[in-house]
Amino acid sequence: MERRALLAGNWKMYKTPEETRSYFDKFLPLVEEVADRDIVICPPFTSIFAAVEASKDSNVRIGGQDLFWEKEGAFTGEVSGPMLKASGCSFVIVGHSERRQYFGETNEGVLKKTRAALESGLTPIVCVGETLAEREAGRTLEVLREQFITGLGSLNPSEIERVVIAYEPVWAIGTGRTATPETAQEAQHFLRTLLVEVYGVTVAEQVRILYGGSVKPSNIASLMAMPDIDGALVGGASLDPESFAAIVKYDYS
Ligand code: PGA
Repeated sequence: MERRALLAGNWKMYKTPEETRSYFDKFLPLVEEVADRDIVICPPFTSIFAAVEASKDSNVRIGGQDLFWEKEGAFTGEVSGPMLKASGCSFVIVGHSERRQYFGETNEGVLKKTRAALESGLTPIVCVGETLAEREAGRTLEVLREQFITGLGSLNPSEIERVVIAYEPVWAIGTGRTATPETAQEAQHFLRTLLVEVYGVTVAEQVRILYGGSVKPSNIASLMAMPDIDGALVGGASLDPESFAAIVKYDYS
């Protein structure tokens, strides 16, 4: 089955509203003819408004980088799914490894956030991936299975179809050390087999699995050539409009 490619930029804690506006001024003309793939940018919360305004009537969608699972309440510092939706977001990243590493996120929390995103009408981009120590100990597939089963595996078929999974090996994030296409494919194929085990082939074939970790204009095409790589979640290289546009247009001649 043909899955529509999805190229998502994760800006992390970069760019003010002003910087966001000038980014879109440069980025939108570079990608305006792109119609065969989805383009998403996830700015920090404080720049979402500027990004939504700047991308109005364009082919670029906006996403949050995190959400809390409650709709509203006394949760200082948190932002909910309905709030992101009402601010013009259509996507949200869930369970990024930096959230797991620095903010104590667990697979159980990731599941709650994923459900909350779906209930709010947002498409969650749910991140999984092993650390260097786990890979070196030969535990990659075991870790992915655990993250998948606890963090995603109890969603029902109509929910999982609306989820995007991002395989992001922690050792490849921000390090310049990209997984080879074959290494990423192996992990992503394993995720696809887990989807088949739980949901059957038809549903599994519909779910998009992105790769993330030091994606650049120079390596995107070889990653996208792999059968189970349906797109990319891009950190550092999404901060520059020209480099992210080159990634988005990876096989345009
Ligand atoms: P990177 O980050 O592209 O800077 O490695 C990827 C991510 O954290 O999503």
